[in-house]
Amino acid sequence: MKVVIVVGTRPQIIKTGPLIRAMSKGGEFEVEIVHTGQHYDYQMTKLMFEELSLPDPATNLNVGSGTHAQQTADAMVGIERFIERSKPSAVIVPGDTNSALAGGLASAKSRVPLGHVEAGARSYDMSMPEEVNRRLLDHCSDLLFAPTENSLGNLQKESVPGKPVLTGDVMYDSYLTFQSRADNSNELDLLDLAAGEYAVLTVHRSENVDRRDRLEEIFKAVRLADITAVLPLHPRTKKAMMEAGIRPESIPNLKIIEPVGYIEMLCLLRHSALAITDSGGVQKDAFWSGVPCITLRENTEWVETIQAGMNTLVGTDVQKILHAVRHWTYGLERPAPSSSPGPFGDGHASEKIAESLVQYISGNKGQPQTPVVTGLGA
Ligand code: UD1
Repeated sequence: MKVVIVVGTRPQIIKTGPLIRAMSKGGEFEVEIVHTGQHYDYQMTKLMFEELSLPDPATNLNVGSGTHAQQTADAMVGIERFIERSKPSAVIVPGDTNSALAGGLASAKSRVPLGHVEAGARSYDMSMPEEVNRRLLDHCSDLLFAPTENSLGNLQKESVPGKPVLTGDVMYDSYLTFQSRADNSNELDLLDLAAGEYAVLTVHRSENVDRRDRLEEIFKAVRLADITAVLPLHPRTKKAMMEAGIRPESIPNLKIIEPVGYIEMLCLLRHSALAITDSGGVQKDAFWSGVPCITLRENTEWVETIQAGMNTLVGTDVQKILHAVRHWTYGLERPAPSSSPGPFGDGHASEKIAESLVQYISGNKGQPQTPVVTGLGA
C-alpha cells in the first residue's frame, strides 16, 4: 500500500515522525513524503527531518511564502501532479495548514482516499486561517483521525461524510518518544538558563503577528513581567517586530534565540516555569510536561488543557497576561498530575491510524484506486 503524506510546515513534520515509525512496522506500507516547501528555512524544516530521522521527501514543491490562495493553489497543482504519477492507495494530511488543505483538496478531487490527522479540532473562530482549513478538510476526508473525545464529538455534531476514528494525538506519541532525549539535551547550559526560572515564549499566529497593536501589547506585557522570557523567534514574527519598531534590546528580560529543533524545544519546555504562547502544539507540549500555559488567544482548540486547569486564555490584554504570570509564578500550586489516562490517548495514536488505513484500503479493494485527474470540463 503506497501512502503519500503531505507536509509543508514545522508542526506537520513533527506529526509525520510517529506516523512513519508506525507505518514502517508491519511492512504493509510504502510511504512517500511530499513537502510543499511552505516552510523553507533550515531551522523550520530540514532540522526537523534530521532530528526525527525522517526519510527525505520524495519531492519538494518549493511553493514558499505568498498569499493564502497562492500558497494553497501552487501546492495543490504540485500535489495533484505527484498523485497522478505516484498512484497512491491513500493520502494523509496532518494538521490544519495551507499545505494540509492543498493536499486534502488535491487528493479528494483525484478521488484518492484521504485521511486527516488531527481531525475535529475546532476553535469556532473563522478569522483563523487554520479553522477554515480544518473545516474544509474534515468535510472532504474519508478517514478522520480524531485526537480527543472532544474533537470526535465536533465531527459527529457536524455530521461529516467520512468515517471518524478516535485515535489519540500523534503529537503525544511523539512527546513520549522524545521526552528522555529532550532531558539529555544540553540546551539549558548552552543558553545559560536555570531550570524553573524562565518562561518559554512563542508567538507566530497571523492574528497576533499581523496586528501591530496586538504584537505591541504582547511585548509590553513581557517587558513588565517578572520573569526571563526565552523566545525562539519565528521568521514571520522577526519581520513583524522589525516593521513595528519593537526593539528586543529595550526588553531586558527577553532572550531571543533562533528557532530551535523539536528536541531542544521539548527540553526548554520541560524545564520551564511556564509557557506563554499562541501555538496549538506548545499548549499541548506544556500540558504533557506539567508546565502551566498562558495562551495569547481568545479561544483554543485544546479545551482539555483548560478543563485540566493547566491553561489560561488571556488574549493580548497586558493586565491579563501579567496577572496570569504572577498567578503561576507566585500563586496557586499546580494541579497534581492525574494518574488516569489523559485526554490525548495512550501514546499509540499512530498505530491506530495505520491499522485503520489498512482496514479501510483493504475494504475498498474493488473500488477504483486509480487517481482521477481530469479537467473541469471532462
Ligand atoms: C504556518 C501555518 C500555521 C502553523 C505554522 C507553524 C498556515 C495558514 N499557517 O504559519 O498554522 O502553526 O505554520 O510555524 O498554513 N517564513 C520564513 N521562512 C520559513 C517560513 C516562513 O521566512 O521557512 C516567513 C515568511 O515571511 C512568510 C511568513 O514567515 O511569509 C509566514 O509563513 P507562512 O507560510 O504563512 O506560515 P506560518 O506563519 O509559519
